[in-house]
Amino acid sequence: MAEMTQQARPAEDTLAGLLREGQALLAHAGVENAENEATWLAERALGLDRLTLKLEEGRDVRPADRRLAMELLARRASREPLQHILGSQEFCGLEFEVNPHVLIPRPETELLVKHCAAGLRSVPQPLIADIGTGSGCIAVALAVAVPTAVLYATDVSPAALEVARRNAVRHGVAERVRFLPGDLFAPLQGLGLDGSLAAVVSNPPYIPEGDLAGLQPEVGWYEPRLALAGGIDGLAVCRRLLKEAAEFLAPGGRLLVEVGMGQATAVSRIAVAQGGYNPAQRLKDAAGIERVVCFVRNSDKSQVTK
Ligand SMILES: C[S@@+](CC[C@H](N)C(=O)[O-])C[C@H]1O[C@@H](n2cnc3c(N)ncnc32)[C@H](O)[C@@H]1O
Repeated sequence: MAEMTQQARPAEDTLAGLLREGQALLAHAGVENAENEATWLAERALGLDRLTLKLEEGRDVRPADRRLAMELLARRASREPLQHILGSQEFCGLEFEVNPHVLIPRPETELLVKHCAAGLRSVPQPLIADIGTGSGCIAVALAVAVPTAVLYATDVSPAALEVARRNAVRHGVAERVRFLPGDLFAPLQGLGLDGSLAAVVSNPPYIPEGDLAGLQPEVGWYEPRLALAGGIDGLAVCRRLLKEAAEFLAPGGRLLVEVGMGQATAVSRIAVAQGGYNPAQRLKDAAGIERVVCFVRNSDKSQVTK
């Protein structure tokens, strides 16, 4: 009798059926990595690991579990980012809380962290500013990588700073990262930091105005506009950053800025025109795109145009 009941059970009530249905739903919605994403969402909904899902694919799924899994799959099918549904994203080997108030950390930004950390090895107790910290991924990863560093992390979004603070606590660096609300370097004024930072790092918003409408739904519909929009040519925030950073960097201090595809040359030129920095070094990401522009602050303060 038990055997008969099992044979009569509809295939979609099993783990394999749920995964098939989930994959089809996501693929139909235009999600590229539909098979893996359906699996990750099923893992979360059912509290099972990938191996169990595969090895026990004939196992029954309880109606309540199925409902939860279908809820998560429907959210993803509406192109809500996977990271918002799961609530986190890995960056530099660390897990970061994310929500719609912050940009989801991107793998290419790890280049900036690694290069900055490597350059600070010989500096005893470096002071670093992360401008536009968002989830805090850069500041927190740097604090972990450089245990003697003290960081100042600013953002205009108080809601983003709340997430960043939680991420600093989560990774045990909250005592060395000071989160400050405000526009670029404004929150650093009056803290006695002028001319004393060993490094300034930033991944500013750099999407040109005209490109915003063409972003994929996960980005354009769900990520904060404040984290994306860089004005007409994408460089509005970067220009101000180059100017303001010069005041806070120590001679020999480094400025590392993430840029969008094709922006490295323009950013280097802006710095040359402004003065205050040695010629730029440009770093390529894994896709061969010039992604990070690095400057060293020279010692001639008079060069910086106001
Ligand atoms: C591209 S996101 C980068 C977030 C994070 N640093 C990362 O790499 O994932 C840019 C961040 O800069 C912040 N932002 C935008 N304009 C700003 C400004 N004028 N002053 C300070 N922060 C700003 C946004 O709120 C956003 O969190």
